[in-house]
Amino acid sequence: MAGGYPRLEPEAPEPLIVRRLSAFDLPAIEAHFMALGAPDRRLRFFGGVGDSGIREHCRRIDWARLVVLGAARGDRLVGVAELALPPRGGAAEAELGLSVDAAERRRGTGARLLAASLALARNRYAGRLTLRCLADNPAMRALAIKFGASLQAHSGEFAGVVAAPWPSLPSLFEEAEVMRAGWLHAVFELNPLPPAAPQSPAFASGKRAA
Ligand SMILES: CC(C)(COP(=O)(O)OP(=O)(O)OC[C@H]1O[C@@H](n2cnc3c(N)ncnc32)[C@H](O)[C@@H]1OP(=O)(O)O)[C@@H](O)C(=O)NCCC(=O)NCCS
Repeated sequence: MAGGYPRLEPEAPEPLIVRRLSAFDLPAIEAHFMALGAPDRRLRFFGGVGDSGIREHCRRIDWARLVVLGAARGDRLVGVAELALPPRGGAAEAELGLSVDAAERRRGTGARLLAASLALARNRYAGRLTLRCLADNPAMRALAIKFGASLQAHSGEFAGVVAAPWPSLPSLFEEAEVMRAGWLHAVFELNPLPPAAPQSPAFASGKRAA
């Protein structure tokens, strides 16, 4: 122990958990989008979006058609994926919108969310998952290519498709894990323990009621 002081280890960051989100997570989803700077909002929403636009986007999330996944460290969402699923019996193709906190980038969070979204798309027989981004978005282009998309340019945007074939054992396990994490959060975090029941004076004083 040099100089007589214990060496302080840097605090380990909380583990990253990917979980399915629900309408109860709306405040955290909104806070995540609000924290994106103007350039990132433009990349994520394909155009400039102010605070009221973000509030409107969150208000209009169609929970019946969208699967929303979150990457969380503790109770903070550091990434959100919105997976639009094809209607049953319609032309099979799912589409994904993705965003990660600026401070959290290049640590694999986007790739984790994309892999989980792909598993969920597979498990619903989507067939294909479309990834779109503006042409000046090298990060999303590289991420899409990493997942095997071959990108086509079209009026200021790039779009590529990742195959989302039938469910596989790994895709089912991936979804089970995402659902389990969502369920644990819903039960234990969104429903905090109720305050302890008030004790009767007799109980508090240790006397037994007659
Ligand atoms: C695109 C975005 C989601 C990537 O998130 P991320 O957590 O940084 O991505 P990851 O750390 O998982 O990176 C995975 C791969 O993507 C590529 N990538 C990510 N950021 C990159 C960058 N700035 N430049 C080049 N390649 C990049 C790399 O291939 C990387 O793999 P590597 O780190 O092994 O080289 C994030 O930059 C973001 O939120 N951007 C703003 C919103 C947006 O553009 N959304 C996409 C349109 S919907």
